Amino acid sequence: MDLKGKNVIITGASKGIGKAVAMRLAENGANLVLAARTQSTLDETVKQIKDKTGVKVIGVATDVSKLEDLKNLVDITTKELGNIDVLINNAGVSSQYPFEKQPLEDIERLAHTNYLGYVRLIRLVINPMIERKQGSIINMVSGSTLCDPIPKTFVTYSSLKVGLRAFLKGLFWELRDHNIKITSILPGVVDTGLTDKLDNITKDQKDRLMSPDAVVDMVMFALSTPNNTCPLELAVINQQTPWTKPIIDYKQAQAR
Ligand SMILES: NC(=O)c1ccc[n+]([C@@H]2O[C@H](COP(=O)([O-])OP(=O)(O)OC[C@H]3O[C@@H](n4cnc5c(N)ncnc54)[C@H](OP(=O)(O)O)[C@@H]3O)[C@@H](O)[C@H]2O)c1
Repeated sequence: MDLKGKNVIITGASKGIGKAVAMRLAENGANLVLAARTQSTLDETVKQIKDKTGVKVIGVATDVSKLEDLKNLVDITTKELGNIDVLINNAGVSSQYPFEKQPLEDIERLAHTNYLGYVRLIRLVINPMIERKQGSIINMVSGSTLCDPIPKTFVTYSSLKVGLRAFLKGLFWELRDHNIKITSILPGVVDTGLTDKLDNITKDQKDRLMSPDAVVDMVMFALSTPNNTCPLELAVINQQTPWTKPIIDYKQAQAR
């Protein structure tokens, strides 16, 4: 896909992986609508991208766990930019605990952000894409879904990502009939705010963390394949991650 002038929504775009994706897409000429909850960091990111690339970038304060916010995001995008060519579903939160210690409110927050946030936003953008017989939807899932059983102390987070991955795999086949592309990205551990509790542990083993750029490369690959092909899933895993211990231990991760 030639990204010049294409209209793209990115959720969770003010920091980490989403911000890195936004910068690369803007460098390739895409117009962007960036969504995140915190207005100040969102404004800062919008300004940085505009200053560096000169493309059209709009920030819309959005909590993806709220249906009304998602509707507002789609309405503003359509009004300001027109058709939505690409959706990057990326906003996500983490919560690592042995299940008996996991705060009850975290369970609801994870489900509403990491699962419902993705599914509902796809539902809101999909009909115009079907009418135009074109569109690409890229979703940040997780490399932890490759483990069976899913990693200890991550069971709520990972099981929701497993459910999301299953949903997206089914949707891939359903929407393929309408020429819509659905791709899941499965990253290993990436150096972002989501994993900042790992700073102490990984200070002598930085190689265990991937740069967000490794994930951005997967997004760019998904958007660059020929029109009649679509990568269903792309996993990018750090070469230093031990297969038997894919996630950093709970005790270590809590230590700061
Ligand atoms: N980092 C990793 O190791 C890793 C590995 C595999 C998969 N992933 C997935 O990759 C995605 C991005 O993670 P990241 O590491 O880049 O995280 P991050 O650095 O913590 O950034 C998360 C972004 O999402 C936004 N966000 C969080 N909750 C939101 C909500 N309810 N509504 C709207 N925006 C929200 C944050 O801004 P506000 O807080 O201002 O809303 C921020 O812009 C997540 O889905 C995560 O599960 C990450």
